[in-house]
Amino acid sequence: MTLTVGTVGAAPVGDAILRRQRIRESAARTYARSFPIVPVRANGMTVEGADGRRYLDCLSGAGTLALGHNHPVVLEAIRRTLDSGAPLHLLDLATAEKDDFTTALLASLPPAFAANARIHFCGPAGTDAVEAALKLMQTATGRRGALAFTGAYHGMTAGALAVTGNVAVKEPLPSGGEVTRLPFPYAYRCPFGVGGERGAELSAAYTERLLDDPSGGVLPPAAMIVEAVQGEGGVVPAPDGWLRAMRRITAERGIPLIVDEVQTGVGRTGAMWAVEHSGVMPDAMVLSKAIGGSLPLAVVVYREEYDGWRPGAHTGTFRGNTLAMAAGAATLRFVADHGLVARAATVGARMAARLDGARGRLPVIGDVRGRGLMLGVELVDPAGTPDSCGALPPDPRLAVRVREACLARGLIVELGGRHDAVLRLLPPLTITDEQAEAVLDRLLDAIENAATAPSATGSAATAPAGNPA
Ligand SMILES: Cc1ncc(COP(=O)(O)O)c(C=O)c1O
Repeated sequence: MTLTVGTVGAAPVGDAILRRQRIRESAARTYARSFPIVPVRANGMTVEGADGRRYLDCLSGAGTLALGHNHPVVLEAIRRTLDSGAPLHLLDLATAEKDDFTTALLASLPPAFAANARIHFCGPAGTDAVEAALKLMQTATGRRGALAFTGAYHGMTAGALAVTGNVAVKEPLPSGGEVTRLPFPYAYRCPFGVGGERGAELSAAYTERLLDDPSGGVLPPAAMIVEAVQGEGGVVPAPDGWLRAMRRITAERGIPLIVDEVQTGVGRTGAMWAVEHSGVMPDAMVLSKAIGGSLPLAVVVYREEYDGWRPGAHTGTFRGNTLAMAAGAATLRFVADHGLVARAATVGARMAARLDGARGRLPVIGDVRGRGLMLGVELVDPAGTPDSCGALPPDPRLAVRVREACLARGLIVELGGRHDAVLRLLPPLTITDEQAEAVLDRLLDAIENAATAPSATGSAATAPAGNPA
């Protein structure tokens, strides 16, 4: 690879880039603030900075890189497409690459859903596919509102933001859409203060009764939108029985069910699609991130009876990214053909067990949860007062110190959750056993270090040490 940024190992080059980025780019920069590094090459789950330091990447492009960085199968698909002379940008015209991607995607979906599915190619971000799904169901039902959940994250465009739960990103803007917020079951910080399965039962009962209450204030909605595992909300899996209850409740009332699989799809949770854990058949699935094999791609797939759109009802310039379709088809097939779904389940369970086992020694670990290789570690203040379910107060400041300490140890881990106190692990499905152990060694060491000697972590944000990965 030719570097235009200068010589690897020359830290000042990276420093200059970071400085220019700070000056030229917007105040809304996010990951660039948490990880002041300048990646120059990457392979699998290893990222190398301009200063030559190497990191194990558990962010994976916010869950996009199912096969890690620059997987040979993905690179081969991209090279083959480039060498073929195929047009790279084609709006939504028919191409062999799109045809092949559609075949691979439909083959990966639950068969009963795929059998009667239509696919719409959207602008290349998850948020546009969420918009498309909401519009589709508004068109089909003639209704406006949506049912959405506490802790939900669906994107940053107006409609997607309206169904998102995070108040900090919604508050400064005019409120959009008619959204009824429902309690998402969260065993550790139960919205009903009871926890466990009982919390999920109450959530289902509340939802049902609210919708049936003539004075409940809820107009018949166009759709319910839900994540099978909330990602940004703090890695909170929906219990399977609860998701089945949502399917029953919506079906009985003629409310289309949209499942947002932007982050959970393509094997991430130990099933090809997270809905498969519960056996729920949604009316629409919103897909992005990993389906593009590391390039931008987003679709909504839905049961054909909802296909009441007129031509051009949801359009956009960048809906025909040939390279993304080639890379995405290769990724979908590789994940299915190489047992990576089962592998995500096995390695994820092993990592969760080791993290859980560390709780006795590290009382700042309040909760370990997740599914497959979508794991969350909620950090708490052990000296705080527990709530009615025994949950201790979240400790977002400790979480920031741990993230810095991880970076100093050569590990990229991002935060999330209601209070930004959840360490989120999204390694590639190709993670080896040795890498999984290395991730946990570094993570647990970072937690211990940050929890017991906060001042000793130093400012890793400005001087990451980085380990050979
Ligand atoms: C569940 C879910 N839906 C939608 C989105 C929005 O996707 P994008 O950032 O590509 O717009 C995200 C992004 O993280 C997500 O996690």
